Amino acid sequence: MNKKMTISSIKKSKGLAPLVMITAYDALFASLFEESCDMILVGDSLNMSFAGKADTLSATMEQMIYHTKAVCNGAKNSFVVCDMPFGTYTNEADALHNSIKVFQETSADCVKIEGGKEKADIVKHLTSNGIAVCGHIGLLPQSVRSEGGYKVKGKTNAECLSLIADARAIEDAGAFCMVIEGVIAHVAEEIAKSVDIPVIGIGAGNKVDGQVLVFSDMLGLFEAFTPKFVKKYIDGASLVKEAVKSYAGEVKVRDFPQKEHTY
Ligand code: KIV
Repeated sequence: MNKKMTISSIKKSKGLAPLVMITAYDALFASLFEESCDMILVGDSLNMSFAGKADTLSATMEQMIYHTKAVCNGAKNSFVVCDMPFGTYTNEADALHNSIKVFQETSADCVKIEGGKEKADIVKHLTSNGIAVCGHIGLLPQSVRSEGGYKVKGKTNAECLSLIADARAIEDAGAFCMVIEGVIAHVAEEIAKSVDIPVIGIGAGNKVDGQVLVFSDMLGLFEAFTPKFVKKYIDGASLVKEAVKSYAGEVKVRDFPQKEHTY
């Protein structure tokens, strides 16, 4: 069994081996991921991949707490990150109240919040009150409606400088690591070099300090759309459909259950 990562081993990993993060939303999948992954993210992406919504914005604290509990139950030896849903950290008091709820009701090891310099005060308020924070900069899925779509970041010099300022602000506010999403690879590399904490990429090239993927994307289960940065390690949707088709076919001709499945 792998040793569970800690805030300090995650920070120390910078410059050594890249960190492996994957999303999970339930105990079953979390238990399957535990042996290969350093960190499990209970992402609000569950609102899209599992609740069938068009974006992450309607995820609630109750949902995130329910799914985080399940993941913690299934992967007791994993470092678990709970994504704070949209609208739950708009000010310091709400952010602290909701993060305390996560820490009291689940065994998550940290919370994740989206935003750069504009969220630095909130990150500072959380970290100075005993809440470990993973930042999230670059493309922010919770800003999809205000930005009018998912926009790759770091295309201009101004954007690049602004992202470096975001990363530094989050680090200075006490975050122990951050996710960087949808950023031009060489810009993400610069950003990772400009801070001392691990920068974990998704759609940000392979010169950062780790990678995260949404599990239903990398297992090929989510068919609605496939972002460019996703590699499908198996064609999960076809495998599942084939298996269920075989089951249905066997039931129809009374080929299942057989003797070995019968009391
Ligand atoms: O919600 C999520 O799964 C995330 C990842 C895309 C990093 O935030």
